[in-house]
Amino acid sequence: METDLRLETRAGLPDALRVLIAEYPRTGWEQHRNFNELVRFWLSRHVMFRQLLARLQAETESYMDRQVGFDTYAPRLSQLAGTLLNELHIHHHVEDDQYFPKLAGIDARITRGFELLDADHHAMDGVIHRAADAANAALRSRDGGPFLDELGTFGRLLDRHLVDEEELVVPVILSSGFQG
Ligand SMILES: [Fe+2]
Ligand SMILES: [Fe+2]
Repeated sequence: METDLRLETRAGLPDALRVLIAEYPRTGWEQHRNFNELVRFWLSRHVMFRQLLARLQAETESYMDRQVGFDTYAPRLSQLAGTLLNELHIHHHVEDDQYFPKLAGIDARITRGFELLDADHHAMDGVIHRAADAANAALRSRDGGPFLDELGTFGRLLDRHLVDEEELVVPVILSSGFQG
């Protein structure tokens, strides 16, 4: 993957991969006749990841502001981080194994976009590991600061991946009527 398309450095999809999102802008997705339960469920997973991350950040800020004690914060951190990181890992596997190989062949103009998403998943593996290490370090040291910093990086990369993935995948499903 060229440097400017790496998850860590890119600012969005390149123009060459925006042909379908230009035809199917986000504002019209839900009204489209091919917007089905599969797409609705898949997008709801992305919403869940964002919500879990926001809760984890809010809980960590409350702990650092001394609004909650360590004994209250620690199990919340474990539960929220465990769910977020495990579910995200599973989600990427389902995409890689079940859906993306089929979706990649539908429109040759954006096939390359699925290589980009595959590279993103590899990059996210590293980010997930770093976040898990930072969560464990926070539990050991009782210092939420480095963990909150790591969550900031995690959130920026997760958001980049989710937005770009949605802008590749949803238009290809709407244009083709893909059912899974
Ligand atoms: Fe993904
Ligand atoms: Fe996804």
